[in-house]
Amino acid sequence: MHKWIMAGLMSLAGLLAVILLLTAMPAKEAGEGGGAFTVPDREVDVAASTQIYQNMCISCHGTDLQGGVGPALANVGASLSKEQLYKIISGGRGVMPAFKDKLTEDEIITITTWLSSLK
Ligand code: HEC
Repeated sequence: MHKWIMAGLMSLAGLLAVILLLTAMPAKEAGEGGGAFTVPDREVDVAASTQIYQNMCISCHGTDLQGGVGPALANVGASLSKEQLYKIISGGRGVMPAFKDKLTEDEIITITTWLSSLK
């Protein structure tokens, strides 16, 4: 009898450990300065990206990505990697505001993937 209870407890602990690991992982990946951080590969979603751009970025980066308050983004994918783009959009830089609290992780990856394709 005692053996069964122990076995039950052990597997429960194991299960908990796996759940903890799984839920902790994305947060760690998105963390600042994580050397091994990579933006997952996605299909470019132009419609969703331009929607986000129009809502959040157009005022500073211009109607045609030509720049204004912020620099032109028309071929920013040629000079910045996906990871660099993600970091700037998520965490901000200088006058450029951070968007990690204004956009979801998914939206940041969407617009990052699109900007990265503009070369
Ligand atoms: C309040 C104005 C403002 C808004 C809104 C804004 N940006 Fe910026 N952005 C800037 C400024 C200013 C810089 C230059 C930052 C610096 O000096 O390092 C910049 C820089 C950037 C860069 C780096 C460009 C380069 O060539 O180094 C990217 C990429 C970028 N912004 C993307 C975005 C995206 C995507 C959005 C919308 C989600 C956005 N920005 C919204 C002002 C803004």
